[in-house]
Amino acid sequence: MADETPAAPPPPPPFVGPLEDKDRIFTNVYGYQPWTLAAAQKRGDWDKTKDLLALGQDKIIDEIKASGLRGRGGAGFPTGMKWSFMPKESRDGRPSFLVINADESEPGSCKDREILRHDPHKLIEGALVAGFAMRARAAYIYVRGEYILEARVLEAAVKEAYEAGLIGKNACKSGYDFDVFVHRGAGAYICGEETAMIESLEGKKGQPRLKPPFPAGAGLYGCPTTVNNVESIAVAPTILRRSAAWFAGFGRENNRGTKLFQISGHVNRPCVVEESMSIPFRELIERHCGGIRGGWDNLLAVIPGGSSVPLVPAAEMMDAPMDFDGLRALGSGLGTAAVIVMDKSTDIVRAIARLSYFYKHESCGQCTPCREGTGWMWRVMERLVTGEAAVEEIDTLFQLTKQVEGHTICALGDAAAWPIQGLIRHFRPEIERRIAARGGAAPIMEAAE
Ligand SMILES: Cc1cc2nc3c(=O)[nH]c(=O)nc-3n(C[C@H](O)[C@H](O)[C@H](O)COP(=O)(O)O)c2cc1C
Ligand code: SF4
Repeated sequence: MADETPAAPPPPPPFVGPLEDKDRIFTNVYGYQPWTLAAAQKRGDWDKTKDLLALGQDKIIDEIKASGLRGRGGAGFPTGMKWSFMPKESRDGRPSFLVINADESEPGSCKDREILRHDPHKLIEGALVAGFAMRARAAYIYVRGEYILEARVLEAAVKEAYEAGLIGKNACKSGYDFDVFVHRGAGAYICGEETAMIESLEGKKGQPRLKPPFPAGAGLYGCPTTVNNVESIAVAPTILRRSAAWFAGFGRENNRGTKLFQISGHVNRPCVVEESMSIPFRELIERHCGGIRGGWDNLLAVIPGGSSVPLVPAAEMMDAPMDFDGLRALGSGLGTAAVIVMDKSTDIVRAIARLSYFYKHESCGQCTPCREGTGWMWRVMERLVTGEAAVEEIDTLFQLTKQVEGHTICALGDAAAWPIQGLIRHFRPEIERRIAARGGAAPIMEAAE
């Protein structure tokens, strides 16, 4: 007799946008309302924060894990898991610290600044909740040097929070003491790397540390430390208020939540917008940016996650899900979700050469492959722009990027290599066309320079 047990219904398809206003976490991202404590409280911030803390450290971490939140600073490491690496008790009296990464210096990235200047209380409340969960004594918010207005607003908001008893001694009358310090950087991209940031906070030159030890074991002042991006921390209180299941209801498996996208370049209306993770690229651009300048046929390529991820050519990008896994499958990455759109008027070789210059300029110089390699890559790129190179140099350059990638102390080496790899992978004919137009120069022995 046939088995008559009805088959389980297939799971509903994941929600991939568009996001409704009622589901937006950052309701003041455009600064239409004041950033102040009174206005933030009207928007729902600092609402019964004491009750959130009363959930207890372990429960908060479990909720953040269950929400599927992955770090919004670029690498996408699961946030709840990161918090769980922090010690539950101090055996030697060392305090623990939370460091909040507001350095945001990656070309194309401009979302954290909107939180800092328009919604700073969301971040400060998040700092308390996250800091409490990881048993941290204080949070240090490291703000990019160029963000002058943002730092001033944040400092004023921190002052308000102290005066209202929301942070400091007995924060929110929870019995928990928690301080928040705002620290301003001096304008170096490398200080966004978490261990360079820790060095800089300690008053030293911002150069990445060798790992291990990892910050959760020995970070700021040698104490257990977690470094998180501004957005990762700012969403935490809302997740706890609205539930992990609510947050996990957006986006595809392994790519959950809402996300601030920053779309710049050749769209009709560049903007920062909160959307569901996994929203298709075309819908993101049509709905929020008024389409591509000159129409979709005019799209050339997209850098979907900030300057350090490889570009994706138009045909592959059109229907791509805007999430970690979808963009990785295309050989790129979500990064910070800083989407740089380039239409057919773009000199794509020059655009990538400009990024190479940036990475050369920002290399801290500690390790040889990065210090020498970024300059070498940039010099070759400059010649590829004009075509004053030999065809063989394209392969040499590609090999060079492979020698830098994965062979350095921090990921700046990878960040310098990947854009060039993306260019060669997808636009080799254009590079060869330029070389042919110049008659094909003899190979130049860059290594001998
Ligand atoms: C060169 C370099 C620059 C970085 N800049 C930033 C930055 O500006 N902001 C940021 O949040 N993370 C930046 N990161 C990533 C941080 O090292 C770290 O992974 C991140 O702050 C962790 O936060 P999350 O887990 O919340 O994503 C950078 C990494 C590298 C290698
Ligand atoms: S990879 Fe570059 S930026 Fe990173 S530590 Fe090495 S030299 Fe410094």
